[in-house]
Amino acid sequence: MELVRENVLDVLGAVMEPDLKKDIVSANLVEELKIEENAISLRVMVSNPAMHARRRMQEAIEFNLKNKFGKEISINCEVAAMPAEAKEAHVQRKVLPEVKHVVAVASGKGGVGKSTVTANLAGGLAKAGYRVGVVDADIYGPSMPTMFDVVDEKPTMLDVEGTPKINPVVSYGIKILSIGFFTEQDNAVVWRGPMASKALTQMFTDAYWGKLDYLLIDLPPGTGDIHLSLVQDVPLDGAVVVSTPQEVALADARKGVNMFRLESINVPVIGIIENMAWFTPEELPDNKYYIFGRDGAKNLAAGMNVPFIGQLPLIQGIREAGDVGRPAVFQENSPIADALDELVRTFVKEVDLLKSK
Ligand SMILES: Nc1ncnc2c1ncn2[C@@H]1O[C@H](COP(=O)(O)OP(=O)(O)OP(=O)(O)O)[C@@H](O)[C@H]1O
Ligand SMILES: [Mg+2]
Repeated sequence: MELVRENVLDVLGAVMEPDLKKDIVSANLVEELKIEENAISLRVMVSNPAMHARRRMQEAIEFNLKNKFGKEISINCEVAAMPAEAKEAHVQRKVLPEVKHVVAVASGKGGVGKSTVTANLAGGLAKAGYRVGVVDADIYGPSMPTMFDVVDEKPTMLDVEGTPKINPVVSYGIKILSIGFFTEQDNAVVWRGPMASKALTQMFTDAYWGKLDYLLIDLPPGTGDIHLSLVQDVPLDGAVVVSTPQEVALADARKGVNMFRLESINVPVIGIIENMAWFTPEELPDNKYYIFGRDGAKNLAAGMNVPFIGQLPLIQGIREAGDVGRPAVFQENSPIADALDELVRTFVKEVDLLKSK
């Protein structure tokens, strides 16, 4: 094939930008394309700034060009990360384009406080004026209906431009969908495999979320198939990993972080939150008892080079607030709510940092 601009663009048009899911020519990512006799030089932008992503793009381009124009041509291909603004403009998510940040809350180990953290992050964000939604993806034990006091409510259907959509339940101004709304209470429907995945995906694709700043997803514990399929179907902007300082929880949290880092998943970890960092009795607020060990999750974050979002003590009031359906972050004049607000501020900061990378 003749080495002319038109043919080169043809070849480049077959190379996909993995994040944008568009070819690099129609996504306008090819710059400074020069062709001289037997040499091609060009610059290509990619959305993922990681070294491996840039190298892979370079290899794909070189492979395709040499394949078409012969091994003897020389190629000078520079691959650069796209600036943040360009990225924002490009990354128009197909699923939930009107949601700014889709964030999963995961843990690895069960019972470490994912749902409690999700509910309080959501509450704190809503208090701070953000538009917030929560998806309770815990197919084993959905808890958002209890934590937001909407156990007896059911989502209604809504007609959105001729298409029926699920209208989330609203509590404290937060839009909520839970796998629990679609099963009878106390009727232990065991969601498995494809059915579970389908039900989860529908909470994103078939629901009307409208414009949101944050959509938080409370994941079931573990790092199994359901997580993999969810994170592949739903375009996550990032994930928060919750752990207690205890060794068994940390080991699972590490697995959680590694799951998001898998090449096929590639979801940035926004940070780790240490829950039950210490126990403080309500009547002795200055006493701290490190019953699950000290700073375990904090050290894990440092060791894995993941931001540390903060620590939350084990306090009876947090548990009670969850049980009565009014997350602790809504308490007035309370040190617990202050600590949760601080956690929310750090979370927001880390999400913004991530976007600017
Ligand atoms: N900081 C805390 N202080 C007091 N109680 C807490 C705290 N965090 C969580 N709890 C309580 O611990 C229990 C487990 O928390 P939660 O349900 O949030 O964990 P989870 O990780 O979502 O669990 P699961 O894996 O079952 O989904 C709940 O009863 C909750 O109220
Ligand atoms: Mg839970």
